[in-house]
Amino acid sequence: MKRIKAIYPGSFDPPTNGHLDLIERGSKIFDELVVAILRNPEKDPLFSLADRRKMLEAMTSGFDNVSVDTFDGLTVDYALRVEARAILRGIRAISDYEYELQMALMNRKLQPGLETVFMMPAEKYSYLSSRLVREVAQLGGSIECLVPDLVEQKVREKIDVAHKFANREQSASKTPSEGKSKFRKKKL
Ligand code: PNS
Repeated sequence: MKRIKAIYPGSFDPPTNGHLDLIERGSKIFDELVVAILRNPEKDPLFSLADRRKMLEAMTSGFDNVSVDTFDGLTVDYALRVEARAILRGIRAISDYEYELQMALMNRKLQPGLETVFMMPAEKYSYLSSRLVREVAQLGGSIECLVPDLVEQKVREKIDVAHKFANREQSASKTPSEGKSKFRKKKL
């Protein structure tokens, strides 16, 4: 019997519980599943490729048939390189469908032998996206239950460093007279 290998491509910046839910579902229907992180030079990601890889490796360590890899270029070319027969993508809501259908059909045009398989994550993750996780965390909201604990910690660390850096930049950009006048006011 033929073993079916699939790739699950994406940005995963950061990986969320929705991604993990889909990985778990995918691991049950495919013999092998490769979580493939796109190296996209146009985007300015919150996490480096290496960080995303480490997080996903930790998150998927309990699945025997799941591995993590990175790629650049066309997804279909990567799929062929690793001898995958399917591309797994998640559809959370009807709003995802149009874009996903367009991508699936373009991928089919490029590589007719490769099938895109859509799966739905649990309803509780239907509103969840990496972009919203980044935004909520950057604005001081809680991302607990939206991402695994290890990712939550990494996001916090990243944002704390960014805030410290921004505060330092702000203080450095103050003119010396601004600093002095504050000091004078305090002494009065
Ligand atoms: O997590 P994302 O950002 O929704 O993932 C999008 C991704 C990586 C699957 C898509 O951008 C992609 O496949 N990029 C690789 C370049 C490519 O193959 N482009 C043609 C897609 S039809």
